[in-house]
Amino acid sequence: MAVIGTDINEAKSILESSELVAIPTETVYGLAGNAFNTEAIAKIFEVKNRPSFDPLIVHTYSLDQVKNIVKELPKKALLLAERFWPGPLTLLLPKQAIIPDLVTSGMDTVAVRIPNQPLTMQLLQSLDFPLVAPSANPFGYVSPTSAQHVDDQLGEKIEYVLDGGPCPVGIESTIVGFEGDEAVIHRLGGLSKEKIESIIGKVKLMPHSSSNPKAPGMLKSHYSPGKKVIVGSLDTLVKEYGKVRTGIISFTRSVEGIVPEHQMILAPDGDLTTAAKNLFSSLRLLDKKDIDYILAEPVPEHGLGLAINDRLKRAAAK
Ligand code: TXA
Ligand code: MG
Repeated sequence: MAVIGTDINEAKSILESSELVAIPTETVYGLAGNAFNTEAIAKIFEVKNRPSFDPLIVHTYSLDQVKNIVKELPKKALLLAERFWPGPLTLLLPKQAIIPDLVTSGMDTVAVRIPNQPLTMQLLQSLDFPLVAPSANPFGYVSPTSAQHVDDQLGEKIEYVLDGGPCPVGIESTIVGFEGDEAVIHRLGGLSKEKIESIIGKVKLMPHSSSNPKAPGMLKSHYSPGKKVIVGSLDTLVKEYGKVRTGIISFTRSVEGIVPEHQMILAPDGDLTTAAKNLFSSLRLLDKKDIDYILAEPVPEHGLGLAINDRLKRAAAK
């Protein structure tokens, strides 16, 4: 069991001794370590059982700090940074030598973001170094959106979880890279494509590829619970898989005949923001039930719906 608490000084002192602390962000909880310290970085890969070819996101508290670790900020990157940071946006930028190769898996770009979470912001401001933090889950599993989720899976391996309550966004940050003048979304996430395009115009979506070692977060099968997830029309799926040993994830409605505890309605209010916030905790809850299948219906394909459907699809790809 890790200690779950809100003591920033405790978190700071653990991080300063090259150990790891789980930290809250507005998107999901992260497993944080000193971004300049290879010993701490290596521990992150070990604790998560994460392949070393999967690079990490560096978290900082200010644009000035970002400028100390990247070589340049293209115009579109600066526009996005100024508009959406702190927030659920990660930018891929050419790295300076101060960022260890272990962080970027040898690539010459580094992923950076300024998270929007008061406790973590205070923690970052109190430290002399930025924090690398992947989602605080074993590699390939659903990301944690509460301190308890972290403790459930990594509690034996880390000392301390900084508790910021449930994550208000609930889905990982949107990752944006740059190819010349063009912005490219590498991972759909908590900041919608529409909002990004409202600031910098049309952006490209990087095609998914399960063989692309550059962005394993885009692996075809990722974010998956242990149980089999099947995505489709709920009416059709319920006919095929039955109502007894199944659980459902729906957008707004319930399905008659399935026990209420096996029904996760993501957004009774029909709001995609609510649905994103509830998605991962719903998958985790159903994963613990005595059922064989999780049947899930896609949500409307706009705004955060794109990221939600992307996660559902990949949870199902196992
Ligand atoms: O919301 C988030 O982004 C959370 C919170 C904790 O900040 N973090 C997160 O980290 O989701 P992680 O490690 O689970 O996912 C980061 C993704 C990975 O899929 C990785 O491949 C990609 O970012 N990534 C990191 N650096 C990259 C780079 N230089 N180029 C391309 N992809 C990169
Ligand atoms: Mg992750």
